[in-house]
Amino acid sequence: MCGIFGYIGEDDPLQTCLLGLEQLEYRGYDSTGIAGLVDGQIAICKEVGKLSQLKAKLTLQRLTIAIGHTRWATHGKVTPVNAHPHQDVQEAIALVHNGIIENYEELKEELHTQGVRFQTETDTEVLTNLIAKCYTGDLVQAVQKALLRVRGHFAFALVHKHHPQEIIAAARECPLSIGVNDAHTESIISSDPNAFLGKTLNVLFLRSGEIAKVEKGKVSVFDSQLRSLAKKTERLDAGTAAPSKEGFEHFMLKEIYEQPSTVQKAYLGRLEEGEVQFESLSEEFRTPSQICFIACGTSAHAGAIGALLVEDFAAIPSHYEIASEARYRILPQNTLIVAISQSGETADTLAAVREMKARGYKVLGICNVKNSTLTRETDACIFLKAGPEVSVCSTKAFTSQITVLYLFAQFLSGKRVSEDLKNVPAQIEKVLECAPRIQQIAKKYSRFNNFFFLGRRYMFPTCMEAALKLKEISYVNANGYAAGELKHGPIALLDPHFPVIAFCANHQTEEKIVSNVQEVKARSAPILALAPESLKGIAKIVDDVIWLPNTSDALAPFASTVAGQLFAYFVAKERGCDIDQPRNLAKSVTVE
Ligand code: G6P
Repeated sequence: MCGIFGYIGEDDPLQTCLLGLEQLEYRGYDSTGIAGLVDGQIAICKEVGKLSQLKAKLTLQRLTIAIGHTRWATHGKVTPVNAHPHQDVQEAIALVHNGIIENYEELKEELHTQGVRFQTETDTEVLTNLIAKCYTGDLVQAVQKALLRVRGHFAFALVHKHHPQEIIAAARECPLSIGVNDAHTESIISSDPNAFLGKTLNVLFLRSGEIAKVEKGKVSVFDSQLRSLAKKTERLDAGTAAPSKEGFEHFMLKEIYEQPSTVQKAYLGRLEEGEVQFESLSEEFRTPSQICFIACGTSAHAGAIGALLVEDFAAIPSHYEIASEARYRILPQNTLIVAISQSGETADTLAAVREMKARGYKVLGICNVKNSTLTRETDACIFLKAGPEVSVCSTKAFTSQITVLYLFAQFLSGKRVSEDLKNVPAQIEKVLECAPRIQQIAKKYSRFNNFFFLGRRYMFPTCMEAALKLKEISYVNANGYAAGELKHGPIALLDPHFPVIAFCANHQTEEKIVSNVQEVKARSAPILALAPESLKGIAKIVDDVIWLPNTSDALAPFASTVAGQLFAYFVAKERGCDIDQPRNLAKSVTVE
């Protein structure tokens, strides 16, 4: 799972490619690389690590055409040789790839018997050599022929030393967009059209199985039988402003502090005089017999809260499924599928959406990124309007997701609703004011390597989300657990070196969580409680408390989540971790 960029046109291809890769680094930062043509030969520069490391060692001169890559390793370790672009043995082709060639072992063996000697552990090198073998003078034809042999999902772009005026791109179930300017003087290829910074372009999206020949200011697209296709384009103005930290030390912290405003943006214009209106939702979405939320990671935790909200507000049976498992489930007819994704590009979520659509279910998307694949493949989509989320660790997207889900649950109830959601920004502000105290507490807990996060009802997915934050950026073992389950096994792990973070802000289950906290105390584990101001007595039992504003159970996830985000942030800071780009992770995971 990686980012691909390509440029042919009147700007400097190398510099344009570097700018594009900067925008795509969220898709992986294990290594980066650029290839192009210099004096009729392929020239490549690649480096392990982030783009800044490539820039520091850039050996390329002016290129006439360029393709670039930012890698999140799947096949093959993070080494210079496994970094993209890859070449065929004749060094005629350079190729950048996002996705997985599932039958690469079999193809590799076949090519090996034909004399191809491989340098890397990657599936990409196999694909590159396969295309080279199929080449007899026409590059599009070579790609088409090779793809008949390939199983898997991918998007790629390649250049050939005998075709200095063209980049060939192809995609199967992975996103790839191609933009051309009005003057027809440049063409850009990118995994994400939002990386076309500062350009106004007419953009087309490659559908599964399509192959594109990209020339300066011109794109020709073919289907898998090489029939020429007339593709519709969308006009896209990517704006000029690259995201900025605006004075914060990290994007994560900036995004945590944005939440009073991003939550407000998510309900603004949708909640008026006791009525919920979504610009994109017709009445037919109001009457599902059941709802299944599908998503991954943080978005899945939002889905878990969504299911509770829908059952509480609209009494419609609901549950959530991890997207990669959802496709194996049997769901009743008239189940509405709600796919939640910040990026709209998560491969597991998209695969589940495609499967559910093929089975005839209606699919609603909840997404932050406009023009993303999810927004094009669902029957309708509600946008979060949270603005770009840069930090790999998701924060503001989550609170925007649960804002939209709260509204959606109210929408399904069909009744006039309370507008208590409008109190949330002030509640978040109150938690943000406690940041110095949370930092002090985090400092104390930053020396531990194992944590349980416990919660009940709304606090169960909330504590799973908080544990995920800590895991992602601090590399400590933090597990979110249903508080009632602790005694059924995990309690065996507790000792004075294994702290428990108790999420106590669900009034309905208050007494039960207090009992669970007592059980923890009896095993001498350190305890930090995140508790509403009304639960004063908890201070006598636990070691530390982060006090939260009193609120209803359904709204409690907001304040508790923000406190959990700050806690994780300050622990990671104390441990000296790379907060915005944690190891092994990527913002958008485009492989299954
Ligand atoms: C990756 C990110 C997570 C994110 C998940 C789902 O694993 O590192 O932070 O929650 O993908 O992403 P999505 O864009 O679909 O919400």
